[in-house]
Amino acid sequence: MLSTLLLAWYDTNGRTLPFRGTGDPYRIWVSEIMLQQTRTETVGAYYERFLRAFPNVFALAEAGEGEVLKCWEGLGYYSRARNLHKTAQIIASQYQGKFPADLSALRALPGAGDYTAAAVASIAFDLPAPAMDGNLTRVLSRFHGVREDVGQPSVKRRLRELAEQDMPPVRCGDFNQALMDLGATVCVPGTPECPRCPLRRLCDAYSRGDAEDLPVKAAAKPPREIRMAVALITHGDRIWMTQRQESLLRGLWVYQLTEGSLTDGEKARRAMGLETELISTLGTARHVFTHRVWQMTAYHLQAASGACREGRFVTLDEMNALPIPTAMRAAKEWAEGLLREAKA
Ligand code: ADE
Repeated sequence: MLSTLLLAWYDTNGRTLPFRGTGDPYRIWVSEIMLQQTRTETVGAYYERFLRAFPNVFALAEAGEGEVLKCWEGLGYYSRARNLHKTAQIIASQYQGKFPADLSALRALPGAGDYTAAAVASIAFDLPAPAMDGNLTRVLSRFHGVREDVGQPSVKRRLRELAEQDMPPVRCGDFNQALMDLGATVCVPGTPECPRCPLRRLCDAYSRGDAEDLPVKAAAKPPREIRMAVALITHGDRIWMTQRQESLLRGLWVYQLTEGSLTDGEKARRAMGLETELISTLGTARHVFTHRVWQMTAYHLQAASGACREGRFVTLDEMNALPIPTAMRAAKEWAEGLLREAKA
């Protein structure tokens, strides 16, 4: 049976990861939200820092949103942090601080998709819910020889049903995590390491020799390239920043961002009461989001006064205390340089 072979393999070959070895549903929830879009190796340090700042669900529920976003800085996809915060408030106020041992109640929490709800249900509560991520999809499509586009809803449904049938009666969380580990270390994308695989004797793709071609995926649409002007507007030893209202990066602090050219941002600057002069072009940077790419050019502008109708002028120390998205990493470094120079 798949699960017997797999769990035996997991007992000696499973990865030791910083977020494992706990039964605390809050900790498991935090790790699975982080793991939604961030690599396992990257999550470790952030996970520990986050839990030091917010060691239990009540501590997180009572924190301010700015504090939570600041602690999330560097992980990206900040709606995850906002949703984690909202979830803590719901668990604290409606569930006496205890996560529900119920798949659909977990699925209803902010930021939980099918995957996260199933991962937490299985790991924290041993419920038989397959956590269908890229790893499970790859391993199971090879194992069961599913040779249709795994992006199709009907194919996804079929893979989930196969996973449900494969699920053992106990150790459901280990089963999911064993499939993730097998997918991450042996049954890897591209050319898998079949000779090391505990499942190869039962694996359909192995017996047919086409594991490399699976899973079948329709080509993804490339993300849209957007040209952005990033204006670093200084006045003395301060720089202008604003808190984003747009859904992408909402709540985070950025410099003046304009889709298009620097000139396209002039009207907005004037509307905010900023009279500026172009000093220099600082350079270019790129940031890749899920569905778009920002191709940024950064400029140094000097403002005639430190007054403005929107946003505010902040010092270097104030800037470093604000939550700033990774998309602004290069811009932030230029900003640091400008503010240091101004102070010197
Ligand atoms: N990716 C997402 N959740 C994971 C987990 N619990 N273990 C390993 N990789 C993961």
